[in-house]
Amino acid sequence: MNTLAARRTRNLGMTVVAALLILWLSDVMTTALQDTSRMSGWGLLAMIGFLAAYNLRKKLALLPLGSSASWLQLHIYIALLTAVVFGVHLNWKMPNGLVESILALLYLLVFASGVVGLFLSRSLAKRLTTRGEEVLFERIPVYRKRIQAEVEAIVFSGLEESESTAVAQFYADRLREFFLQTRNFWQHLVQSNRFRFGLLKEMQAYGRYLDESERAMMTRLVTCVEAKDDLDYQFSLQATLKYWLFIHVPLTYALLVFAALHLLLVSAFSGGVS
Ligand code: HEM
Repeated sequence: MNTLAARRTRNLGMTVVAALLILWLSDVMTTALQDTSRMSGWGLLAMIGFLAAYNLRKKLALLPLGSSASWLQLHIYIALLTAVVFGVHLNWKMPNGLVESILALLYLLVFASGVVGLFLSRSLAKRLTTRGEEVLFERIPVYRKRIQAEVEAIVFSGLEESESTAVAQFYADRLREFFLQTRNFWQHLVQSNRFRFGLLKEMQAYGRYLDESERAMMTRLVTCVEAKDDLDYQFSLQATLKYWLFIHVPLTYALLVFAALHLLLVSAFSGGVS
């Protein structure tokens, strides 16, 4: 077993042991007719506060607060542990009150978005290396415009050199829109090549009606279609990797606001937070 796998197994093992300890403690307290909600509530708040602090840690990257990789590992295992504390705090039932229901829903959404984000960041990062050149996200529009300019140059030179407008017609009908902006976001995300293969097949079939110089032009256009499609693939995966945090982080802030509101309500109705 390599060291990374060994570390993961050890961390996961520790998380499971901590989860079992929490469940055991809650069981003991319930049997002794002691209230678990206060302890689990403060515990959950502290854990969520730590998870939310990851955002600050990223903003204060220059301060010596430990490596980002260690924070991420801690983030994931403590986040998994919150699920058990959350269950204990709610006594494994959805709450009835409005604020509490919204709070529980927000927690579940933050948790789910974290799990989805973790899956995406692991799987998409791997897939990014499998197709096209890895490009800087911010440079993608520049590369797209470059390919579009090349395509237009091929089509216009064809119009100047030959009487036939067949290639230009095909470009106007089938390719212009494709080169104009990023396409097939969702298809790339689910790894579907249907559009690419369909278009390339269409271009091959169209080539049968062209003369030799036009066919040479079509071959150059095919290379451009492949390059643009690879660029769209990079965009789709990189944008998803970048923007899933725009769901996870704002939901975290909403969760903190509702947690504060919940605390206020509880302290108002129980005569003070002790
Ligand atoms: C339940 C409460 C949770 C809270 C309050 C929370 C909060 C946060 C915050 C504030 C960030 C920092 C984002 C940034 O500034 O870039 C973050 C990142 C992240 N979280 Fe969570 N999270 C929670 C649960 C989870 C769960 C359950 C998982 C997965 C099992 C998870 C996985 C991640 C990952 C992978 C990142 C991004 C790491 C990176 O790209 O550097 N989170 N989370």
